[in-house]
Amino acid sequence: MKKITQPIKDSYNRRIDYLRVSITDKCNLKCIYCMPSKGLKYFKESEVLTDEEIVRFVRIAHNHGLRKVRITGGEPLVRKNILQLVSSLKKTGIRDLSLTTNGMLLAGLAGDLKQAGLDRVNISLDTMDAKIYRKITKEGDIERVWESIREAERVNLTPVKINVVPIRGINDGEISSFASLTLKNNFHIRFIEFMPASCNGVWAKDKCVSSAEILKQISGLGNLERLKFKGRGPSRNYRFKGAAGVIGIISPLSDHFCGYCNRLRLTADGKIRPCLFSKDEVDIKTPMREGASDDEMEKLFLRAVKIKPQRHLLNEDPSAGGHLKAMSKIGG
Ligand code: 5AD
Ligand code: SF4
Repeated sequence: MKKITQPIKDSYNRRIDYLRVSITDKCNLKCIYCMPSKGLKYFKESEVLTDEEIVRFVRIAHNHGLRKVRITGGEPLVRKNILQLVSSLKKTGIRDLSLTTNGMLLAGLAGDLKQAGLDRVNISLDTMDAKIYRKITKEGDIERVWESIREAERVNLTPVKINVVPIRGINDGEISSFASLTLKNNFHIRFIEFMPASCNGVWAKDKCVSSAEILKQISGLGNLERLKFKGRGPSRNYRFKGAAGVIGIISPLSDHFCGYCNRLRLTADGKIRPCLFSKDEVDIKTPMREGASDDEMEKLFLRAVKIKPQRHLLNEDPSAGGHLKAMSKIGG
């Protein structure tokens, strides 16, 4: 296999250099926007890609210019031997290796994850109120999340990004409090519009808080400056004048960012999904288990890039997320 270092481009001239890898569909929480509270069947262990299979695929994609990998779940820290997997992924040469976690298990692992080669973390925290936190996550303990945030900062898994999904009637009153955290702390607070998926029976258009509304709510707190794009990706970034941290707004619904999309997803059961909302997937597990060569695997990667759609249609048709059984199956 010849080594290619330039990122490849898809059919719409977008550079694809970012892969989100879901390493498990299991989670120790059940957030209302992500998982149904009952009835979700997990993959069998034999259906989930092994460490070797994941690392092999990332190595092949890295030869095609893949630069960034984000490890997601479910909750990635419930997977066995996570430190070994992080270390093997970093050794493929990936420049930016990050992980999205709910923070239940991070505090005890942060130092070892950093040593294994993890660069940074995103932590999901949608409220600062312990009772509301319980209501959203069902089983979570907010104190452990704060401990994880502090520990991530201490061991330099930074900048620590905090994902907030505002839902009207639940946590939309806290948008300004989250934004204020950036005044003194070098956090990146990322507000993500609540997306529909068939799992979240709670989704309704009027429960989504649009990015325009978020901006309006926080604009009273200070002088908000728009930051220039650093790299590409879905987040529009802002900073209050003189503040330590950054505010990101991700609006898949009200202002889709598909034109800048640089990513593919790999599901825990070994399918490349070219777009979060794609129905088309490329199975890499079956060929790999039937003995596919690196050249054959490379062709599968290239096919997934080629079939990446121009954009999703969620804005026009919220039911476009209807086939997503749970966000936790694809890693958000
Ligand atoms: N809408 C928006 N974001 C979601 N996530 C999961 N489900 C949804 C949804 N329905 C994202 C959150 C969470 C991460 C794990 O996935 O940002 O922090
Ligand atoms: Fe688990 Fe994260 Fe989904 Fe919550 S958002 S159920 S913590 S995967």
